[in-house]
Amino acid sequence: MTTPRHMVELRDVCMQFEEKKVLDGVSFTVEPQERLVIMGQSGSGKSTILRLILGILRPASGSIFFKGLEVNRLPRRKLQRVRQHMGMVYQYSALLSSRNVRDNVALPLEELTDKSRAEIDKIVDEKLELVGMKDSKDLLPDELSGGMRKRVALARALVLEPELLLLDEPSAGLDPVIASVIDELIISLSEKSKVTSITVTHEMDSAFRIATRMAMLYQGKIIEEAEPEKLKQSKNPVVAQFLSGSTEGPILEGSLDAITKK
Ligand SMILES: Nc1ncnc2c1ncn2[C@@H]1O[C@H](COP(=O)(O)OP(=O)(O)OP(=O)(O)O)[C@@H](O)[C@H]1O
Ligand SMILES: [Mg+2]
Repeated sequence: MTTPRHMVELRDVCMQFEEKKVLDGVSFTVEPQERLVIMGQSGSGKSTILRLILGILRPASGSIFFKGLEVNRLPRRKLQRVRQHMGMVYQYSALLSSRNVRDNVALPLEELTDKSRAEIDKIVDEKLELVGMKDSKDLLPDELSGGMRKRVALARALVLEPELLLLDEPSAGLDPVIASVIDELIISLSEKSKVTSITVTHEMDSAFRIATRMAMLYQGKIIEEAEPEKLKQSKNPVVAQFLSGSTEGPILEGSLDAITKK
């Protein structure tokens, strides 16, 4: 087999939930060690894209590749093996409420490796240290703030040393200092450990800090894709409006009138 050039590739992906079309021909590639940030309005399909890459969802049509393997066609067992090379931080953290922090982070190691208890403890400590959560090992998810849960979810995503990190709103709910720490961590993982990442975020400061490339999802399509500095100068009215957070522009046209007329 020839070495695949791309870490991830989406080729003409369409996705719909019952009648609702969410993705309408999405194509993009992510190269090794890149940090792609996907932006878009709430409900535009950003989390859906990450779930498609993980193989949790299957597209209506089109293909999704991870290192040259077509994720959406892999049999279940093979898919599970491939997934071990991906770490996912879910938008709402998705920690198991009955397990404490330590046991949540240890879970992928317990389930997917034959490492000893001592080895697992060492890795868990190391990853919790990275996200600044080592002192909270014995707490249950319910005893954590939203931002703390996010950091634990990040530690859990890192325990298998993934090649690809998928981050769904990693800095939502974090204070600005911790948010910067997480951003720096994502950057250092790609620079030092050669991790490739795809981040979905609404936080523009964070997006511009992290991204080596940015993509804007709008009405089911990637309408613009560029390096951060180029994107800032985009003439596309949708992109410009999204970056400025203005209420004037094509986004919400019509729906905003309905709100203001009430
Ligand atoms: N499992 C599902 N069943 C039915 N509809 C779904 C499902 N998952 C997502 N959707 C719909 O698909 C659309 C895109 O959802 P998605 O979660 O990908 O949006 P998003 O861009 O991540 O939004 P947000 O920024 O609010 O997280 C939404 O309209 C949502 O209602
Ligand atoms: Mg989402």
